[in-house]
Amino acid sequence: MLRAMRVNAYAALDHGQPLVQWNYETQELGPDQVLLRVLACGLCHSDLHMIQNDWKSSTYPLVPGHEVVGEIVEKGGALAHLHVGQRVGVGWQRSACLHCDDCLRGNENLCDESTGLITHGHGGFADHVVADGRFCVPLGDDLPTEFAGPLMCGGITVYSGLRHAGMTSGQRIGIIGVGGLGHLAVQFASKLGNTVTVFTTTDEKAQQATHLGAHEVIIVRRGTLAENPRKHFDLILSTVPTPIPCELYLRLLESDGTLCFVGVHNEHLDIPLFPLLARRRRVMASPIGGRAMMRQMLDIATRLGIRPTIEKFPLAEVNSAIARLRRNSVRYRAVLMP
Ligand SMILES: NC(=O)c1ccc[n+]([C@@H]2O[C@H](COP(=O)([O-])OP(=O)(O)OC[C@H]3O[C@@H](n4cnc5c(N)ncnc54)[C@H](OP(=O)(O)O)[C@@H]3O)[C@@H](O)[C@H]2O)c1
Ligand SMILES: [Zn+2]
Ligand SMILES: [Zn+2]
Repeated sequence: MLRAMRVNAYAALDHGQPLVQWNYETQELGPDQVLLRVLACGLCHSDLHMIQNDWKSSTYPLVPGHEVVGEIVEKGGALAHLHVGQRVGVGWQRSACLHCDDCLRGNENLCDESTGLITHGHGGFADHVVADGRFCVPLGDDLPTEFAGPLMCGGITVYSGLRHAGMTSGQRIGIIGVGGLGHLAVQFASKLGNTVTVFTTTDEKAQQATHLGAHEVIIVRRGTLAENPRKHFDLILSTVPTPIPCELYLRLLESDGTLCFVGVHNEHLDIPLFPLLARRRRVMASPIGGRAMMRQMLDIATRLGIRPTIEKFPLAEVNSAIARLRRNSVRYRAVLMP
């Protein structure tokens, strides 16, 4: 079995180029692989970074799309826990070794052999995608297809980042940037019982952020804060894809507070030592999340009614969705429907 087939995809043929229709042949499936029919796929800012080669690691043709919801069409022989017809989600991570210490601790996202869905193969802006079945998460019936995609990268990244930065409940948490990741971070942090302050550059998002669960909104203008918030945050999460004024945010942390980056850029962080030292503050960054935490995140999102706010686009209009993401005008996650 497991014939090769032709996949109809949208690809960037070079950096910064609009996506064009592009075909490729799949290989015969390996024992751990699945062929998915794509049902929906979110558009993450990391897709944009990859299209633009912001991280100097992109190879072309590049088929973006790593917030995939798909139906299993075929599966390899080693995947007894999955069945044809099953609806699953796949995020940024394509695979990992599964036997190193990190993998055995449930930190497959930290594995030295970790690979990315769109860095080591073709992604979900296509009619089909080949994935590692061990990194596909079965989706419950109470999680509709179009809302599941953004949880597969955006959701797990902010949930895992907040948890590893020490989020419990009853804390004061700041979220910088209300985009695809940020609007989910606000929901997780507030629904889990924290007081949430949002830092946004977009006036119009202030009202919406309170509907998402924010208790306070602070407008950021030209890299500085329009008002002077009290220094009292246990945790501040940056979801912004560009450098932020680190010192300003560091000084808003309580003693033992943590500034955690999930938004990614290529610059060095500009962090002075004294404000870190004087209040024993911490700075960290966090990539996606492991498989166990992915299940935990989906369970919590389903039970607490945490849902992405989405705008649906037909896959053929993927370039319009990308243009809107570039202009920071998507509210709050674009989802491509093939
Ligand atoms: N760590 C990980 O594993 C991981 C996983 C997924 C994504 N990411 C990264 O997380 C970042 C955010 O992804 P996303 O999908 O949430 O992006 P997004 O939807 O574009 O949201 C980013 C938000 O950052 C704020 N922002 C402030 N200055 C900006 C600027 N100059 N350009 C664009 N946005 C600016 C905007 O919020 P306001 O309008 O509220 O200011 C914007 O909505 C990206 O760097 C992405 O690569 C990391
Ligand atoms: Zn992503
Ligand atoms: Zn490993």
